Amino acid sequence: MGRPYIFGTNFKMNQTPAESAAFFEQVAARIAPRSDVHCYIIPPYTSLQAVTELARRDNIPIWIGAQNMHWAPEGAYTGEISARILLALGVDLVLLGHAERRGLFHEGDPELNRKVQAAFAAGLRVLLAVGETGEERQYGVSAETVARQLKIALYDVPVEQLALLSVAYEPVWSIGAGGTPASPDDVAPIATVIRSTIADRFGDVGRQVPVLYGGSVNPSNAGSFTALEDIDGLLVGRSGWTVDGYVATYEAGLAAYSD
Ligand code: PGA
Repeated sequence: MGRPYIFGTNFKMNQTPAESAAFFEQVAARIAPRSDVHCYIIPPYTSLQAVTELARRDNIPIWIGAQNMHWAPEGAYTGEISARILLALGVDLVLLGHAERRGLFHEGDPELNRKVQAAFAAGLRVLLAVGETGEERQYGVSAETVARQLKIALYDVPVEQLALLSVAYEPVWSIGAGGTPASPDDVAPIATVIRSTIADRFGDVGRQVPVLYGGSVNPSNAGSFTALEDIDGLLVGRSGWTVDGYVATYEAGLAAYSD
């Protein structure tokens, strides 16, 4: 069975609700829905309501994601947001384990495991980001790092919930303006490790979990990643922050995609 092409952007701490709504409407007008493609956008929490309202009003099939989530359904957790709150807005997915959450906000693998379990139990899709730091790469433990992150994040997850999972491989050293873009030769072996780690844990159904690449993706290099056998799509930052950039990167990735 072919795996769909999955494409989208994380806005990080950018955009007001009005800016996100305008972006969403314009992207939806430029990208025709297809059964073999899933597009998504991940705006700040404060934009989620405006965007989900538009999606409902105009029946737009683009997935709308949150950038993080707490594991508890509710409680005394000042500043946090739960799966229950996200679902009430009509959010489709949650990004968990982004390198900035892990690095700047000290999120560890056991916490991520609780978040993944809570999201799945609530029926939310999870886009789980994994990736080694520059230091881990230098020591030659990229594969071990990514396998460890995956095994802990997916610990005790029932196989029936696996259909809600996508994984994004984002080497930390390749992300953002100060990052060094990865090459397809860097990405291919780790994408294969991701696929086999999930298959070892869950059996053959694990092979259907989409694996995305992220980190300094742009319209010129997008196709070099989506052409890889074990890469099913992209998680884009800066290149997806304008409508033209989003559409151009989407198209470049799709043109080279082979499932
Ligand atoms: P970038 O960000 O595309 O701007 O490098 C990627 C990410 O943080 O997911």
